[in-house]
Amino acid sequence: MGGRVAGKKAFITGAAQGLGAAIARALADEGAMVALADINFAGARKTADDINAAAGGQIAFAYELDVTEEGQWVAALDAANTAMGGVSALVNNAGIAGDKGGIEELDFARFKRIMSVNVDSVFLGAKYAIKYLAQNQPGSIVNISSIAGLIASWNTPAYNASKAAVWLLSKNIALYCAKKGLDVRSNSIHPTFIDTPILDPLRQAFGKAEVEAKLARQVPLGRIGEPNDIAMAALYLISDESRFVTGAELKVDGGISAM
Ligand SMILES: NC(=O)c1ccc[n+]([C@@H]2O[C@H](COP(=O)([O-])OP(=O)(O)OC[C@H]3O[C@@H](n4cnc5c(N)ncnc54)[C@H](O)[C@@H]3O)[C@@H](O)[C@H]2O)c1
Repeated sequence: MGGRVAGKKAFITGAAQGLGAAIARALADEGAMVALADINFAGARKTADDINAAAGGQIAFAYELDVTEEGQWVAALDAANTAMGGVSALVNNAGIAGDKGGIEELDFARFKRIMSVNVDSVFLGAKYAIKYLAQNQPGSIVNISSIAGLIASWNTPAYNASKAAVWLLSKNIALYCAKKGLDVRSNSIHPTFIDTPILDPLRQAFGKAEVEAKLARQVPLGRIGEPNDIAMAALYLISDESRFVTGAELKVDGGISAM
């Protein structure tokens, strides 16, 4: 089977829904095998089943993974490596928002949970996936940061701090792999507001139309993004089209960071 990522074997976290599911679908459509890992196993299973039904064969596999749990990473990567006959790409996409206020209001336990899900995940994923990517070069790691990792807001201390950490950790991983002489690249993607369930708490609190219009007004292109806008960026970074791109940040933000 041909395609822009034919022969690639990608492990994607947070793939039950939203951006992770869109990335898995886009990679599968372009010839990759995909391992969908999520704390929501039923959701990952359902998305994998849909991909397999569309493909008319088994190219997608589902795994239960809490990205903050070291032992679960080791087990899920080993299982995906066996199922796909290797792992050549890692997409660290699982992440949570939900600061609920400024730094004085934010509960310390909540701060630590957001940091753990958004940052420990990238550390653990790269730590344990690099050996598989090294066996399946060229390899690619894509970390989903956020425009909030580059631009702060007054009321998102944990989200800002965690996504900024993902940004520089991506560069650290890029340089580490290069130093080891591996053809394994590492890059970050920085989306602005994208239409996924992560926006549901805002929609429920303030109304769907109002929230989407308010967010769209902040974007020079005048709209929030679609999941496929991010999937296309991930597809590029996982394909060999980006073979000389490592340690880079790809902003997919409708122009927000240009202001
Ligand atoms: N949608 C946006 O506006 C937006 C903007 C910038 C960055 N992002 C980032 O993109 C990524 C995906 O976001 P989304 O919009 O698809 O969100 P989403 O809430 O729709 O999906 C997140 C997925 O991650 C999973 N997940 C949560 N905690 C997990 C854990 N501990 N272990 C494993 N899986 C876990 C959830 O079950 C869910 O399937 C996140 O890292 C998010 O911060 C999203």
